[in-house]
Amino acid sequence: MIPRKKILAVVGARPQFIKHAPLSKALEKDFLLKSVHTGQHYDDNMSRIFFDELKIQKPDFQLKDIGKSHAEQTGNMLISLERIFQQEQPDAVLVYGDTNSTLSAALAAVKLHIQVIHIEAGLRSFNIQMPEEVNRIMTDHVSSILFCPSEVAQQNLFAENIRRNVFICGDVMKDMLRLTLPYTRRLFQEKKYYFATIHRPYNTDAKDRMLEILNTFNALPYPVLFPIHPRTTKLLAGFGVQLEQFKNISFIEPVGYFESLSYQYYCEAIITDSGGVQKEAYWLEKKCITIRPETEWVETLTNHCNTLLFDSLSELASKLQEIPTYFDPGLYGTGDASNEISEQLKNCLC
Ligand code: UD1
Ligand code: UDP
Repeated sequence: MIPRKKILAVVGARPQFIKHAPLSKALEKDFLLKSVHTGQHYDDNMSRIFFDELKIQKPDFQLKDIGKSHAEQTGNMLISLERIFQQEQPDAVLVYGDTNSTLSAALAAVKLHIQVIHIEAGLRSFNIQMPEEVNRIMTDHVSSILFCPSEVAQQNLFAENIRRNVFICGDVMKDMLRLTLPYTRRLFQEKKYYFATIHRPYNTDAKDRMLEILNTFNALPYPVLFPIHPRTTKLLAGFGVQLEQFKNISFIEPVGYFESLSYQYYCEAIITDSGGVQKEAYWLEKKCITIRPETEWVETLTNHCNTLLFDSLSELASKLQEIPTYFDPGLYGTGDASNEISEQLKNCLC
């Protein structure tokens, strides 16, 4: 019998646990799959909850205390991951998205001549000030097998002369949503409300900007349910902002995936700067306002489904009234990306 190929997946941040849940289940059938948790996200409600509720295999390796700054995180992970890769000698290292964990794993692997598989390849915001843009460009350029969620993403890679082993496979987050939606029940009892998440540095890291966003939410016609990312919580505490003054905002701790999906499913509209939440809003056919100057999920901007708003926050209430005219049910695949990826890898790796 031919030995199964060994894939070592590297995860570290909340959205990566959610992406890994369906894909790991598909890969386990045909590959020897192991995983490393880099410890980039470490609070129980940013990490453990997803392994528990989405029934993800416990990681085989767990890094700790990787630091805070980009250089610290990337450097520390690079050193630790190199040791693990040398010890494990996988046939390929699999990475997701665009976090510092993604870049470190891709760099460590390529220098050991281990193939890199990039899930969510080809996304571009064309804003190089975003750490994620740097991470995704560099990761794409050292990857040997690239899975794109859309044709636009594939074209972005072609434009950078990345052509070999580039596949369109849809989005694994859609798989997770498709599996979860039938079990979704209302968990927030407010009849009409908005759901919000904000964690991008350009929204959170300056006190005036953060206050402008909160004051705008506070003036909306319906209450805003806002699970706060620990990055945002820590910055608000540091700014000395009293959350009780925002009577229209229900601040809650970060929640698990099932809860997040329920809140999104039953809300009036979604306000976010998250990548994953923009897609979920689209698949749930909710109006989304993205508090960013640009998005890499450009397809969601059609038919008023998703609207970018950055400088003119005073227009938030009126933009929320714009009604989407059509949601394409096939956007970013059919919800079966994990099996497609696994099948393709059987051809590429074996
Ligand atoms: C990271 C990713 C971002 C992704 C986001 C998903 C990078 C460069 N950024 O941003 O692309 O959208 O994750 O959520 O990789 N913290 C805690 N507990 C935790 C995690 C974080 O307290 O469990 C706090 C720490 O103070 C930390 C800060 O949040 O310094 C920022 O965390 P970090 O992982 O560096 O970046 P994110 O903003 O979470
Ligand atoms: N999410 C969650 N709990 C929360 C907020 C978000 O489970 O309190 C989920 C959300 O439904 C989506 C993913 O986290 O599936 C998005 O991750 P995040 O916004 O942290 O990162 P990004 O997608 O911006 O990289």
